[in-house]
Amino acid sequence: MSHSKPGFATRAIHAGQSPDPLTGAVNVPIYASSTYVQEEIGHHKGYEYSRVSNPTRTALEQNLAALEGGTSGHVFGSGMAAITALCTMMKTGDHIVCSDNMYGGTTRLFNQVLVNYGLEFTYVDTSVAENVARALRPQTKLVHIETPTNPMMGLTDIRAVADICHAHKVDLSVDNTFMSPYFQQPIALGADIVMHSTTKFLNGHSDGLGGVLIGTRPEHAETFAFVQKCTGGILSPFECWLLLRGVKTLPVRMRQHDENGRAVATWLSRQKKVQKVFYPGLADHPQHALACKQMTGFGSMISFDLGSQDAANRLLKSVTLCALAESLGGVETLISHPATMTHAAIGVEGRRKLGITDGLVRISVGIEDVQDILADLEQALAKV
Ligand SMILES: Cc1ncc(COP(=O)(O)O)c(C=O)c1O
Repeated sequence: MSHSKPGFATRAIHAGQSPDPLTGAVNVPIYASSTYVQEEIGHHKGYEYSRVSNPTRTALEQNLAALEGGTSGHVFGSGMAAITALCTMMKTGDHIVCSDNMYGGTTRLFNQVLVNYGLEFTYVDTSVAENVARALRPQTKLVHIETPTNPMMGLTDIRAVADICHAHKVDLSVDNTFMSPYFQQPIALGADIVMHSTTKFLNGHSDGLGGVLIGTRPEHAETFAFVQKCTGGILSPFECWLLLRGVKTLPVRMRQHDENGRAVATWLSRQKKVQKVFYPGLADHPQHALACKQMTGFGSMISFDLGSQDAANRLLKSVTLCALAESLGGVETLISHPATMTHAAIGVEGRRKLGITDGLVRISVGIEDVQDILADLEQALAKV
């Protein structure tokens, strides 16, 4: 049987990771070295100093680029460091159009840090692609979207927005954190750059922060490598290794996350005390058809409204298996309150505009036995 490109699971395990030439070790070693000996002036084995490059990091960067279908990958110390690096491609006066509903920390970076350097941001509801077209200006250099959005689970049609961007010679970057490359391939849909908080599903075990930028053109690779070298916000070899280890099981984890996510969303949608469930896998999600078209699974991120902060608090303090904590994408179920946690920074008015109510609860469904997750939610909901 002739075979061209290896499948996703094969790439997750092998891309960028040939056995160690020195020892045959099947796993890429943690190259805990800040510097590398050189044979003579200007002659070395490709590595000079670990801020610039490190073999464990190279393996990870090649691996992640292969999973997203990009031509380059560059990892940073966190998702926020990756977004910051992305924005260093901009100059004073440049304009960025982005989704109005994004992770609160991204909005905080844009509104409270980068505006001070003369970058301008316009926030639109990117679920209506024409809103992006209307917001473009001659100075627009980038459109940055999150899909699905955190925490309202709104979708943006990546292909439609990519077409608009390209007609205006603007790059499209997609924060693919919620879906992971296993369920959504933005580059295949026309995106120029993919960004992740690798802290979430890519790592999958809640034991390391990280961020990545995947590029599709030589200038992306050059710029992101230059930013790593100049600003130094790179990921340590140990954390690169943790991530390589986590990614090997991404496909099996994501399949289980998806199965559990669907079951929990369906169960929540049948509970009288739950006023509304936001999950693209439910047939009543306004963009369910788009979800079926551009994603190959619905994942395990679900938000649901209990009507008041008091009700949310009663549930959150009553759960025992589900952990009340920030973050998402780990093997364990994490549950949180966006209004006071991830989206506290955007303020009352910002939350009101996006529909992030005080009764909204976000759950990142883990891969425990789903009946145990449901039993925990059931006993906690009984206390509401
Ligand atoms: C969608 C999304 N993007 C970016 C980030 C920021 O990533 P990090 O926490 O790794 O800096 C987060 C964090 O929650 C996120 O959910």
